[in-house]
Amino acid sequence: MGNLNKNVCNCRKVTFERIEDSIKNGANSFEEVVEETKATKGCGRCKSYVEDIVKSKLNR
Ligand code: FES
Repeated sequence: MGNLNKNVCNCRKVTFERIEDSIKNGANSFEEVVEETKATKGCGRCKSYVEDIVKSKLNR
């Protein structure tokens, strides 16, 4: 997961960095990150990946 510009959600073109920013800006759960970034709102295949990133960033 080293590349910040890599899309974690291809459908919505949401990058790793975008997820991080959303958390830095106060998103405090998977749902809030989804709300703000729209990641997982396309095919849904990235859901567990996005969930894992959010969990590791929130450290829980
Ligand atoms: S890759 Fe994220 S919704 Fe399809």
